[in-house]
Amino acid sequence: MAEWLTLCASAELPPGQREVFGVNGRWIAVFNVGGVIYAIEDLCSHDGNVLAFDFEDRPSKLIGYEIECPRHGARFDIRDGRVTRRPAEVNVTAFEARIADGSVQIRI
Ligand code: FES
Repeated sequence: MAEWLTLCASAELPPGQREVFGVNGRWIAVFNVGGVIYAIEDLCSHDGNVLAFDFEDRPSKLIGYEIECPRHGARFDIRDGRVTRRPAEVNVTAFEARIADGSVQIRI
């Protein structure tokens, strides 16, 4: 059964910020948009590489709730992992996320 896992203190991920965490052998990109936390696997399904930041650690574009891959421009909705723009065709995994007891948590 999936359990809530604490990633960091909520103060470490204020609105407008993102961070990537290693969890159980996967990289999880966690976003705070207006005080609400969203989490997706940090993996563009087009090439199987990172999504939330580029290779030089610059944040990828976040347009509304869509994260844009820095390589070929595919977009994914961070609320559910759904592909919203090609060339990617496969959704990425999204995780339940929340702020509870002053911590950022995901269910995994
Ligand atoms: S590697 Fe992400 S769109 Fe091509």
